[in-house]
Amino acid sequence: VTSASPGALALVGPGRAGAALTVALARAGWKVRAVAGRSPERDSTRSAAERFHCPATHVRDVAAGAQLVIIAVPDAAIPDVAAALGASPSLVAGTLVVHLAGSFGVDALATLAVARPDVRLGALHPLQTLPGADEGAARLAGSWCAVAGDAAVTELALAIGCHPFVIDDDQRGRYHAAACIAGNHLVALLGQVERLATAAGVPLDAFLPLVRAAVDNAAALGPAAALTGPVSRNDVDTVARHIDALPVDERDAYRAMAAAALTLTGRDAPELRALLAPNEAASR
Ligand SMILES: NC(=O)c1ccc[n+]([C@@H]2O[C@H](COP(=O)([O-])OP(=O)(O)OC[C@H]3O[C@@H](n4cnc5c(N)ncnc54)[C@H](OP(=O)(O)O)[C@@H]3O)[C@@H](O)[C@H]2O)c1
Repeated sequence: VTSASPGALALVGPGRAGAALTVALARAGWKVRAVAGRSPERDSTRSAAERFHCPATHVRDVAAGAQLVIIAVPDAAIPDVAAALGASPSLVAGTLVVHLAGSFGVDALATLAVARPDVRLGALHPLQTLPGADEGAARLAGSWCAVAGDAAVTELALAIGCHPFVIDDDQRGRYHAAACIAGNHLVALLGQVERLATAAGVPLDAFLPLVRAAVDNAAALGPAAALTGPVSRNDVDTVARHIDALPVDERDAYRAMAAAALTLTGRDAPELRALLAPNEAASR
């Protein structure tokens, strides 16, 4: 596997991330040899096979003729897939087997390493949210990408326009938590914005220039300098009025993020801190 000479790949787990990466690698010249999911009859596997003009097959057969096997299954299924590949005669020596999970290093492929010390192992985690094949593939170029294991993983990342960086296995937990906060919790917060705004008769669209400016300012100035609003001004009464105005089931999230904003200010604000404490919910 070199970036100069793309070969044939096999995809195990033709879901959102696997399909996005495969589209990007196909554009970089890779041929898709086969796809496998839980069964060749499942819709996701059949439609991926159609899309990539290749057979839908079983995990045990998927690696035939491939120099690269991508494991893009839910994190909890990676050990089972690694074990199935380890017992597969279709996997030949020198094949690069890569998983996409952010929270594990190559250790997630330990059973494969034991069964087949002649194959190369890696982890490639695109630091990007990939909601589908085409939207995901379009986002990969320019994204950062955590790489581990065989050096060829870095070449793969570069071939799809990603910016590779190395993350130590013992830092994966924190790193992946940060990735989920950035990509998922931000979206969950926008869900809360949408609920409250809609109830107040204002569309989510009205808030999007504000959201984009907040992200841009945090990137340009750093999060601490970019923070504005009542917590940064220590407007305790305004924060108390917000809490009173919110439906009870929206208050915990508001309190938690306002407390995180207070931490960001670096200020010691006991009155505000007390108002935002989780046990305050019971007393209001
Ligand atoms: N989506 C993202 O934004 C993103 C970003 C970076 C990294 N990742 C990583 O990419 C990996 C896949 O995530 P995803 O979001 O793409 O998940 P997903 O959309 O749920 O896709 C998972 C795929 O795996 C297949 N699958 C499930 N269990 C399997 C098994 N036991 N054996 C074989 N195939 C199986 C599913 O097919 P069937 O259900 O049809 O069998 C489906 O095609 C995860 O490790 C995740 O951490 C995801």
